[in-house]
Formats: sequence, C-alpha cells, structure tokens
Amino acid sequence: MKKISILTAMFLFATCIIFSCTKETVNPPSDPCTGVVISINPSQTAPTTGQSNGSITVTATPNGTYTYSINNGAYQSSNIFNNLAIGTYSIMAKNADGCTSASTSVTLSATNPCNGVNIILTPTTTFADVCPTASNGSITLTASGSSGYTFSKDGGTTYQASNVFSNLAAGNYPVIVKDVNGCTKSQSVTVSANPGGVKFNLVRNLMIAKCGSCHFNGGSLGGVNFDDKCNIVTKWDRINTRCVIEGTMPQAGPLSTSEKQIITDWVNAGHRYID
Ligand code: HEC
Repeated sequence: MKKISILTAMFLFATCIIFSCTKETVNPPSDPCTGVVISINPSQTAPTTGQSNGSITVTATPNGTYTYSINNGAYQSSNIFNNLAIGTYSIMAKNADGCTSASTSVTLSATNPCNGVNIILTPTTTFADVCPTASNGSITLTASGSSGYTFSKDGGTTYQASNVFSNLAAGNYPVIVKDVNGCTKSQSVTVSANPGGVKFNLVRNLMIAKCGSCHFNGGSLGGVNFDDKCNIVTKWDRINTRCVIEGTMPQAGPLSTSEKQIITDWVNAGHRYID
C-alpha cells in the first residue's frame, strides 16, 4: 500500500508539472472589485439653525447590499444618517464584496428660518400737535404671525422691546418688526401733524374765502399774514373783534350772520387749533 501511495504521489506530481496545475496557486487571486463602479446619490434634510436635526439618506448603485460610512467612520447597514448639524460630510458605500464607492461630499446648510414666516404688522398712530408744534405723536405697532418681537422706528438701527414709540414729531418713520429668529417686516409709517379741529377749519376756510390775498398767499396787510395756521390761533381775539364784534372786517364787505356764527362757534369752543 505504501509503495502504491508514493507512486501515486509521484505520478500526480509529474502530472502537475506537465499540466502546470500549480499555476493557479502561484498567481494572485482576481480582484472582485475590478470593474465595479459604485455611485452614491445622497439626499438631505437641512438642519434648523443651531440644531442637529439634519439627515443624509444614501442610495447606492448598482443595486445590491451595501453598508454605509460617514466621515470615514464604521460602516452601518442603515442608509440614513440622522442628528446632523450644519456642515460638510463625506459619505462612502461598500458592497458585499468589500468594494467601496468614491468618497462623496455632502454639505448641509441651514434652512432659512424665515421661510414661510409671514409677519403681519399693523400700525396705529396719534397726531403730533400743531400750534404749538410738538413732538408728541406716537406709533403703536401690533405684530402677528410670529413671536419674540422687537421693534425699530429708524430702519433697524436700534430696536426696542416695547411696541410703542412716543414723543414723535410729525414725519415718516421706517418701521421694522423683527421676530425671535430675526425675520422682519418693514413698513413706512407716517405720524401726521394734527389736521386741526372742525370749527377751526371752518373758520380758516371762511378766512381763505373772505380775507383773500390781503392776508393769505403772502399778503400781510396791516402786518397780518394767515398762511401759517398758527397765526389764526394767535390772532383769534382780533379776528373776533374785527369780524364779529365791530364788523369792520373784511374791508371788502361785512360778513353774513352765519359767517359770523362760524367764528363765534370757534371762539366759544376755546379758539384753539384743535377745536
Ligand atoms: C381788501 C383787503 C382786506 C381784506 C379782504 C381783509 N383785510 Fe384785514 N386788513 C386789511 C388792511 C388794509 C389792514 C390794516 C388796516 C386795518 O387795521 O384796518 C388789515 C388789518 C387786519 C388785522 C390787523 C389789525 C387788527 O385789528 O388787529 C386783522 C386781524 C385783520 N385785518 C383781519 C382780517 C380778517 C379776519 C379778514 C377776513 C375776514 C380780513 N382782515 C380781510 C385789509 C384787508
């Protein structure tokens, strides 16, 4: 038996030399990754500013079983990476044969926190006084649609927590309301000069009609000009005396009873600009 075994071995050895049966073991094994191209196609959900709530979902091709790595970390079977903050990440996929894709860079940018935020700004104002002119107007800003507001009346140079601006002169104010995330709504708000009371304006209109160019449009006969509304307030007593009590004005002709009554009503109401 032993002889036969040795002879068999020798025979096989000789056969091997003849047919080069050792060749297979001398050459290196063929690389299973040769010609394999794995592409990865990441999709992403952006994180909110300051939070780690973004994610990257990886799809690898061609179809197969893959594991996935982020930033050269350990490979995992899930193709989803969660809890990611803003930043750039390198993603790789590896198939069952250990062949890997190229590293693919994915950048997560913050979502704009103002997307979809629609702040509604509703201003209300009070007049600035006239005669005497005073910086006593106000703007009250009511905002809705978001939260955590601060308010500016100077185009955003300064902001305050209160939604009320007081002690304002008549004029236009570039108002801005800003919410907790810095989302803003702008609007130009006008603080108007007090337009004057009803009785005052009836008197003024009467005077424009009756006292004409002698005292308006630059006219200042007797040293009196009424273009400035406040001069009417200042001269209330002389207007009343000349037009109602004495009836010596206008020089173009006397006022009717009802015209005198307009002056009388204003005088009795307090003869102020706001009456
Ligand atoms: C046609 C021109 C003319 C018209 C119209 C006229 N005035 Fe005069 N006003 C004068 C002249 C001139 C004087 C200066 C002489 C005088 O006092 O009578 C004067 C003086 C005045 C004075 C200053 C003197 C004072 O008594 O204090 C007042 C106030 C005045 N006018 C009010 C009026 C009013 C109000 C009207 C309209 C309802 C009016 N005038 C219409 C020509 C006019």
